[in-house]
Amino acid sequence: MRFIFIGPPGAGKGTVAKILSRRFSIPHISTGDLLRAHIQQKSELGRQAAAFVDQGKLVPDALVIEMVRTRLKEPDASQGYILDGFPRTVEQAEALGKILRDEGMVVEHILNFDASNAKIIERLSGRRICSKCGEIYHVRNIPPKKEGLCDRCGGELIQRKDDSEDTVRRRLEVYRRETAPLIDYYNRMRLLKDLPADLEVAELNPILDQLVK
Ligand code: AP5
Repeated sequence: MRFIFIGPPGAGKGTVAKILSRRFSIPHISTGDLLRAHIQQKSELGRQAAAFVDQGKLVPDALVIEMVRTRLKEPDASQGYILDGFPRTVEQAEALGKILRDEGMVVEHILNFDASNAKIIERLSGRRICSKCGEIYHVRNIPPKKEGLCDRCGGELIQRKDDSEDTVRRRLEVYRRETAPLIDYYNRMRLLKDLPADLEVAELNPILDQLVK
């Protein structure tokens, strides 16, 4: 099964992706996570991407498309995947369409995470991520059992550099300008399903069951 998740920063794409990735045993492919890993490893791609990610701007399409094309060829993606944060521009959506057509594959579910600005700000200001395994927490909504430590691997929980107030504001502007047009793009293809992303995780579960059965 193949999924695409579209939505503003902090709407919960990564959180839901981790739930469905475990449920369907398919990889969660987050372009943000891939880029952050490249930046940490100081690869050539990481070097080129770092300033864009830190400032909350989009990394140039050509770099991201090549990174995704390579990732989708890995064996674990052969039976399906969840694409979280890609595509983010019409150019990326067209490149993905071509990759899928070339492989004779289709995407079954495109979910549009519909979240309010107030919820986004509340979520991003309380987000913590595991520095080792990337598990996502929230200081109030989804706290770890032991403060500051990951329940799954014991890693240290940290705040993302791009979750500062100014950078979040920039990421939201970039989303509205560059990514929101994809809602029309996929709507015209009658492929999009809306997810009321302001709901708590427990309330989302039955809706996800309906949407992805
Ligand atoms: P990326 O890492 O993709 O960030 P994003 O899209 O801004 O999304 P986030 O990861 O911030 O939010 P999310 O929706 O996954 O929310 P989460 O589940 O964590 O991209 C980062 C940067 O990389 C970009 O700015 C850009 O520079 C670059 N980039 C990435 N892809 C690119 C591309 N395709 N092209 C060009 N550049 C690209 O949840 C947030 C918080 O809320 C957490 O604390 C969580 O615990 C909590 N929470 C989540 N859901 C719920 C819920 N239902 N109830 C209660 N709490 C919840």
